[in-house]
Amino acid sequence: MHIHKYEKIWLWAGAACLTLFLLIVGVSAFAMGDQPPSHMETIDPEKVVVTAPFDKPGLTRVGEKQYEAVMLAQAFTYTPSKMSVPKGSTVHFKVTSTDVVHGFEIPATNVNMMVTPGYVSKISYTFKKPGKYLILCNEYCGAGHQVMAVTLEVTA
Ligand code: CUA
Repeated sequence: MHIHKYEKIWLWAGAACLTLFLLIVGVSAFAMGDQPPSHMETIDPEKVVVTAPFDKPGLTRVGEKQYEAVMLAQAFTYTPSKMSVPKGSTVHFKVTSTDVVHGFEIPATNVNMMVTPGYVSKISYTFKKPGKYLILCNEYCGAGHQVMAVTLEVTA
């Protein structure tokens, strides 16, 4: 069988482009250790309340204007239900669920993650403006889903 010279060139060009695109996608997706920001750490969902740090949920000062907020999401609230940090603080949220899938969103910020039983969801945010920030659930989780919200106060 005879293949025309130009056809051969185009076949090779096509194969080369495909290889190049796959390389670009495959390499860039994981370049420089890029990973999804949460769901890296797993936890036994049955033993959340006896597993550190979730056995003592709460806000801890971990440095100059640095806080760690260990939180539990459960139908239909979050623990702790009230937190307060000074303006300019960075809060490192560590959240897991004791029951079903919940959301974790702070409107007007880029904090928005899914909280899945069995996984620890993490996100950090620097609160530059004082005020009361709502932390709310944006994943339908049952009859009380719409009341699942707590506040984080950022003091001036
Ligand atoms: Cu929790 Cu909706």
